[in-house]
Amino acid sequence: MRTQVGIIGAGPAGLLLSHLLHLRGISSVVLEKRSRDYVERRVRAGVLEQGTVETLVEAGVGERMRREGLPHHGIELRYGGAGHRIPFEKLVPGRSITVYGQQEVVKDLIAARLAAGGDVRFDVEDVAVHSLESEPYVTFGGERLDCDVIAGCDGFHGVSRPAIPEGVLTVFEREYPFAWLGILADVEPSSEELIYTRTDRGFALHSMRSPTVSRFYLQVPADTRVEEWPDDRIWDELRARLESVPGFTLTTGEITEKGVTPMRSFVVEPMQYGRLYLAGDAAHIVPPTGAKGLNLAVADVRVLTEALAAYFEGGSTELLDGYSEACLKRVWRAQHFSWWMTMLLHTFEDDDAYGRKLQLSYLDYVTSSEAAATTLAENYVGLPYAT
Ligand code: APR
Ligand code: PHB
Repeated sequence: MRTQVGIIGAGPAGLLLSHLLHLRGISSVVLEKRSRDYVERRVRAGVLEQGTVETLVEAGVGERMRREGLPHHGIELRYGGAGHRIPFEKLVPGRSITVYGQQEVVKDLIAARLAAGGDVRFDVEDVAVHSLESEPYVTFGGERLDCDVIAGCDGFHGVSRPAIPEGVLTVFEREYPFAWLGILADVEPSSEELIYTRTDRGFALHSMRSPTVSRFYLQVPADTRVEEWPDDRIWDELRARLESVPGFTLTTGEITEKGVTPMRSFVVEPMQYGRLYLAGDAAHIVPPTGAKGLNLAVADVRVLTEALAAYFEGGSTELLDGYSEACLKRVWRAQHFSWWMTMLLHTFEDDDAYGRKLQLSYLDYVTSSEAAATTLAENYVGLPYAT
């Protein structure tokens, strides 16, 4: 079997890449180790930058997102007994975000690929990438896929990045001493906008998916197991952290999903080796506080699509050679923003009184200075693409 681009992984990166390549007349095969049902149900983040929304709409996969997605024009930072709104419409006029679950994006992309006759294979076993320097190929379940290039879109735990020879990649990383316990609940959101809350008990986030479904996160110790958190304990803790301003009451309901997300910052440089190009979580991870993971994957895939189009249409390898460099500027900006939001809003066990004072001073600055709030707002809605 032969294709132009062998794509490992049917997350947002792999699926969007396959679709954008199809629109440019470039063939691909997507190989995913999980089932279609599994990837469509996997609950992940839900904040789409304006550029991500535009990319999906331009690619013809934005119809349901436009109908069901929730446009947001601000977020709230809550700490010290008060809430402070960061108004996007004032600070970054004309720019906003859309709340729409990642698994809904994945469902829309799979439907679009299949409707266009795309080759997306689920439940594929033993995927391995070979001959990365030239004439690369992929083996899986006893079959062989020859391709011109391979796109490693297989997430942080995939097989693509580890296939790069030792000594090629430089790893930059930071681990945090906490995780997020995330839940979905069948209950109307208690607030119209997202609330990022810093309390002495730890961070909490109120998000949502629809007028009837809410999403919440709690900062918990890194080794937390979901079994330690029965529903009542979760609601009690969410109340203790979120009901920290006068007049706010949390509406509770049935919890339908629970999971623990580790917090990590991670980048490899370069994001390519030979004929293998890494995109999305395969190359970089951000803690979810800045809501950047999915958006960065989309940004990588846009760059890779242009580079592959230039290569297949005109034979030029210039953009492909510069792929990693072109992506890493945005990757590092998002790394800094996500780290900064994380440091600003979480409690750290080993933090002393001095550290807490600095954190609160910075929060006061961000919520009182227009210049400081604008840096938050423009990063949150997403900086413009370089191309
Ligand atoms: N063979 C085939 N597929 C694999 C393999 C493998 N060996 N290993 C992993 N995969 C699949 C995973 O099952 C998953 O469906 O690759 C896909 C990777 O998808 P994601 O983890 O969603 O990563 P990505 O597409 O880069 O999406 C961006 O950023 O912060 C996050 O939540 C955000 O998941 C989102 C990600
Ligand atoms: C979510 O809705 O899942 C969500 C929102 C904002 C974040 C992270 C996750 O920063």
